[in-house]
Amino acid sequence: MNRPELALVLIGFGHVARRFVRLLDECADRLDFSCKVVGVSTRHHGSVVSLDGIDMARAIAHYESSQSLDRLDTDPRERSGIDVIRQIADGLADDAAEGRLVVVETTVLDIDRGEPAVSHVRAALEGQAHVITANKGPAAFAYHELEALAESVDRIFFFEGAVMDGVPVFNLVRETMPAVVIDGFRGVINTTCQFILSELERGTKFAAAVAAMQARGIAEADPSLDVDGWDAAAKTAALVNVLMGSAMTPHHVARTGITGVDGLDVRDALGRGKRVRLVASASRHGGKVKARVEPEVLDRSDPLYSLDELDNALYLSTDLLGQVGIVQRSSGLTQTAYALLSDLARISQRLREI
Ligand SMILES: NC(=O)c1ccc[n+]([C@@H]2O[C@H](COP(=O)([O-])OP(=O)(O)OC[C@H]3O[C@@H](n4cnc5c(N)ncnc54)[C@H](OP(=O)(O)O)[C@@H]3O)[C@@H](O)[C@H]2O)c1
Repeated sequence: MNRPELALVLIGFGHVARRFVRLLDECADRLDFSCKVVGVSTRHHGSVVSLDGIDMARAIAHYESSQSLDRLDTDPRERSGIDVIRQIADGLADDAAEGRLVVVETTVLDIDRGEPAVSHVRAALEGQAHVITANKGPAAFAYHELEALAESVDRIFFFEGAVMDGVPVFNLVRETMPAVVIDGFRGVINTTCQFILSELERGTKFAAAVAAMQARGIAEADPSLDVDGWDAAAKTAALVNVLMGSAMTPHHVARTGITGVDGLDVRDALGRGKRVRLVASASRHGGKVKARVEPEVLDRSDPLYSLDELDNALYLSTDLLGQVGIVQRSSGLTQTAYALLSDLARISQRLREI
């Protein structure tokens, strides 16, 4: 197989998914695979299925002018994300059997149970599709079940964009750190809180900083998920489940958000040479993993001290390599879209190896 063509089903067509579609186009001549999008499903903007491929410029234009995607479908009907996945897995059964069908899950984070994203991933794998997602829900609520299912059907379940956007956290460990045990981690992994705390240092009001993150499409659809620490707790649960072999949900992570953080206190800390940051961490205690998310006052000597505005960083504590740190300066939509692209490239690489 020289240049595989992958059939993509987009479940969710928000900021991340549309940036991903545009990025695929921008990078087309750098990729060793090609893609056609055969289905798009949304919550309020309808859905479209076309097994021959959808005109994505029209789909984006429809979505961004608040027109229903149903208008692009030759047989429009009301259907859920799972309906779309099943319809396409049936219609493209040969592609699915050959590993060329990929479901791209980018619906919003549900902090109660990780649904419907967990069910989307399950339905995709049951239909023999690979799954890539930027949604933290599946890895935070059901990683071990979904990974076992993926293995049993010989398909990929990747979620590089779920934590630290485009920086390869999961791939770094999976691909380059064989036999290394991760004993814990510590990091700044929520961009919205990081930005808000940096802006409070500059005298910006809390609400204005939240609005700026919403305008850039970086804050969660419901920004309380960011400022209450839920997004960081979901990422922490995903990291603990995948890298430390634990079985946690975000509800097992001790959590304090930044809503109680006062701008005056942040500036006062800065005046004393310290910075307030929302820190996520996990460590092993006698075989048990404990995880927390909370604002910390950092000294200059702290490796997280220098992070500003849109920066993220994660330091892994390992048995064989000591501390390994990853820093992402200026995260954003392109970085998250790139994470999906890199997951897709891994699927293509696997197809080429067969
Ligand atoms: N934005 C970022 O910088 C970033 C970074 C890393 C990870 N993520 C994660 O990536 C995911 C997508 O983020 P986003 O910023 O693109 O969110 P978004 O702009 O709010 O888009 C979410 C999309 O999901 C659709 N949707 C919601 N529930 C659905 C359902 N049950 N079935 C089908 N579609 C459904 C929405 O439909 P409607 O359009 O009709 O509402 C919308 O198209 C989230 O899980 C987020 O946590 C985001």
